[in-house]
Amino acid sequence: MWFDVDRTGLAKLLERRGKEFIFLELVSNALDTEAGSIIVRIAPVPGRPLVRVEVEDDDPDGFKNLAHAWTLFAESIRKGDPAKRGRFNLGEKLVLAIMEEASIETTTGSVRFDSEGRHQGRKKRAAGSVFSGLLKMTRDEIEKAERLVRGILVPPERILVVNDARVPSRVPLREFELLLPTEVATADGALRRSYRKTKVATYEPLPGQAPTLHELGIPVVEMLDGDPYHIDVSQKVPLNMDRDNVSPAYLRELRVAVLNQMHDRLEKAQAEAPWARVATSDDRCSDDAARTVAELRFGKKAVAFDLSDPEGTKLAVSKGYTVVPGGALSGEEWSIMRRAGALPPAGKVTPSPKPYSDDPDAPPVKVLDPVGLQVPVVKHIERLASLLLHRSGVEVSPKVRIVHTTNGFSAAYGPGGPLDLNIRALGKRWFVAIAEGERDELHELLIHELAHQFERDHLSEGFHRACCKLGARLAELALEDPLALRISVPEETGR
Ligand SMILES: Nc1ncnc2c1ncn2[C@@H]1O[C@H](COP(=O)(O)OP(=O)(O)O)[C@@H](O)[C@H]1O
Ligand SMILES: [Mg+2]
Repeated sequence: MWFDVDRTGLAKLLERRGKEFIFLELVSNALDTEAGSIIVRIAPVPGRPLVRVEVEDDDPDGFKNLAHAWTLFAESIRKGDPAKRGRFNLGEKLVLAIMEEASIETTTGSVRFDSEGRHQGRKKRAAGSVFSGLLKMTRDEIEKAERLVRGILVPPERILVVNDARVPSRVPLREFELLLPTEVATADGALRRSYRKTKVATYEPLPGQAPTLHELGIPVVEMLDGDPYHIDVSQKVPLNMDRDNVSPAYLRELRVAVLNQMHDRLEKAQAEAPWARVATSDDRCSDDAARTVAELRFGKKAVAFDLSDPEGTKLAVSKGYTVVPGGALSGEEWSIMRRAGALPPAGKVTPSPKPYSDDPDAPPVKVLDPVGLQVPVVKHIERLASLLLHRSGVEVSPKVRIVHTTNGFSAAYGPGGPLDLNIRALGKRWFVAIAEGERDELHELLIHELAHQFERDHLSEGFHRACCKLGARLAELALEDPLALRISVPEETGR
């Protein structure tokens, strides 16, 4: 014997996890057998802070080797079987460690553990095993324990009874196959991580239940990030030695799968919760699932804030879109959303007006030579535009061009010019009217277009201020130099 175990020390260590874990160990052991029914009794001892615990099963074989009940880390036949819960030949010993006294009666004999030690007996059962023992537990802990056992997802062909009430079998919301890491035994009996295809089922948590990850029906890890469902994995879950946690990567893999399988029934709050954000940060998240989450979080009409098109972004707001700012999603989430075509940039959905395409390969715009009356009109506009700009503090004298384009604008201007007048949109009549002395429309057009000398974005404060400034300068010009506003058309100019 190389080392001894201080049972009270071990018990203290185990109590951190909460004593109620013993019920899961005992029921796990029974579920790992061929037992059809498992009966759990939890009975407070009147007047004492003790509880009598009994777990009985009807496995035809019972303990094949009763010594395994007290032999730590003996080769467990369940170890190499991914569809069994047991693995280290440890659970039963942890249970014994925190009991005040205990006994096991089974097909191969019986054993009693008390303050004096271990006593083997000759009594044998015809079938099945019963574990019974006394345990210190507060009424609170007893209640917790009962709740925990009732949280076991009982396989449909088994019966689990707790204090005379059957734990009902639950109907899964959905079942699907998934390739997941598990623990399998190698030829020499060592446990090794390996991927294996398994059935995963989701269940609606009952009122008061925290969504929990289950291993073969046994609750193992509470999922605390707003997860909507219980998840049951039908093979060994790679757990830590305390059997109460999994790696973040494992949980993430499950969450992605649950989201991909079940996004059609998610509610808004569930889509906003951290678990869904984890799942939509993962490459394995499907496009459909990403779009559903985007729609639940931000609504059907939602676009991304577009730094490259501030006006397009404001247009989106004005048209009732939700504009999602960059900081609302992580870099990973954005890249999944982009891949899924969810939350397109505002500039793609509600682009700001652009007179000409950004495409360098687009054909150049068709510029027409002014003819007839258009000649003095172009000259007049050039003079007036320069005067207005100069009075606004800008020393530029832009060229005016008549263009013909199907791009839907009447006029276009950028800092320095040229000022393009689209004859296809304005019509030849527009030029004639100006030649005949019509000024109103021209002034409106000039104030708007020349304001782009100062600001490109129609929906900005800057553009508004530029329009005001130009309007004021035009009024001054009209008073100081009224003739500058009048067009002069030489007599001989034909129509
Ligand atoms: N209810 C039971 N019926 C039959 N055998 C059992 C039962 N409970 C425990 N055993 C046997 O005792 C061994 C030890 O159990 P345990 O310490 O929980 O280890 P593990 O479950 O990891 O194998 C099990 O491997 C099994 O062989
Ligand atoms: Mg066990």
